[in-house]
Amino acid sequence: MSDILLEIRNLSTYFETRSGVVKAVDGLDLTLRRNHTMCVVGESGSGKSMTASSILQILKRPGRIVSGEMIYHFRDGRTVDIARLDPNSKQMRAIRGKYISMIFQEPMTSMSPVHTIGSQISEMMLVHEDVSKAEAKARTIELLTRVRIPDAAARFSSYPFQLSGGMRQRAMIAMALACRPDLVIADEPTTALDVTTQANVLNLMREIQRESGISIMLITHDLGVVAEVADDVTVMYLGRTMEQANVFDLFNAPKHPYTRALLGSVPRLDLQRGERLTQIRGMVPNPFARPTGCPFVTRCPERRFGLCDRQEPDLYRLDGSTSRCFQHDPVHAAAWAQNDEVLA
Ligand SMILES: Nc1ncnc2c1ncn2[C@@H]1O[C@H](COP(=O)(O)OP(=O)(O)OP(=O)(O)O)[C@@H](O)[C@H]1O
Ligand SMILES: [Mg+2]
Repeated sequence: MSDILLEIRNLSTYFETRSGVVKAVDGLDLTLRRNHTMCVVGESGSGKSMTASSILQILKRPGRIVSGEMIYHFRDGRTVDIARLDPNSKQMRAIRGKYISMIFQEPMTSMSPVHTIGSQISEMMLVHEDVSKAEAKARTIELLTRVRIPDAAARFSSYPFQLSGGMRQRAMIAMALACRPDLVIADEPTTALDVTTQANVLNLMREIQRESGISIMLITHDLGVVAEVADDVTVMYLGRTMEQANVFDLFNAPKHPYTRALLGSVPRLDLQRGERLTQIRGMVPNPFARPTGCPFVTRCPERRFGLCDRQEPDLYRLDGSTSRCFQHDPVHAAAWAQNDEVLA
């Protein structure tokens, strides 16, 4: 069995609107390993959610995958390029229901308010698997117990609105796990929860991952969450991968100036009194006004005049990680180091 579950290469998803083209995802590279947790981070608008919607092919019009590939490795060794599947095809529906599932920030958006949580979860099993109603019900109760919903047999017949926020989120995790997927994508799953409930939900996801060997792709703003749960991290900016690394390297030796800037804007306990948090200067550019050269050039504290504002860096492979910055380009690194004409 391949150690890799999903390989996204050069993926672009555009919205062709009347005011112009929004390149929501723009040449993204991302590799998900089987049985590992990948956190995807980046400021608002960097394309995290649209990456998730592209993987599941649930983009809303006029959003459209325009190029790239998403190679999905099944357990039996077969592969499929999800980018080439018709969103409405039988194969894509099977992938969505059975192999990859999604946890949203607000459970009420993906749960039906007029059906009990038990019937919604068992329905998933009945649609995608060859099980009887009784089996589906038994498995649902087992799942609800596993996500620690107290008195699961009775809760089977509760409606979503009868549960607390934290419990609804657990029920949604149960729903995502209904057909024993290989990958669960969670888009800001705990942002709406209080800190304690958030920690409980994250611990639960981690525990389930260890037990059942699923992969998790967790989209989050919260670098504290990343430090806690990630194995690998992808840093996105304007639809592109700026850095991908294992979590240890990312925090201890961040390679890309954007990663360093993101880490610099996190509160730390060891700051001296009066010492300021560094903020990333400026704003994420308007999607219609992408800079020439490196996407991060307008805000980068390490940009080099005449290079970073002219050419776009590739995603360079380093020891076990990748970085999209000229300082890691074998051709430009020396010039980059000597060029002290840093833009103020
Ligand atoms: N329906 C749409 N029409 C046009 N542009 C869109 C549409 N949906 C998203 N976009 C654009 O795609 C880009 C990426 O959006 P996306 O929602 O993936 O960002 P994100 O990283 O998830 O941000 P956040 O952290 O705020 O959730 C943004 O520039 C956004 O404005
Ligand atoms: Mg989002």
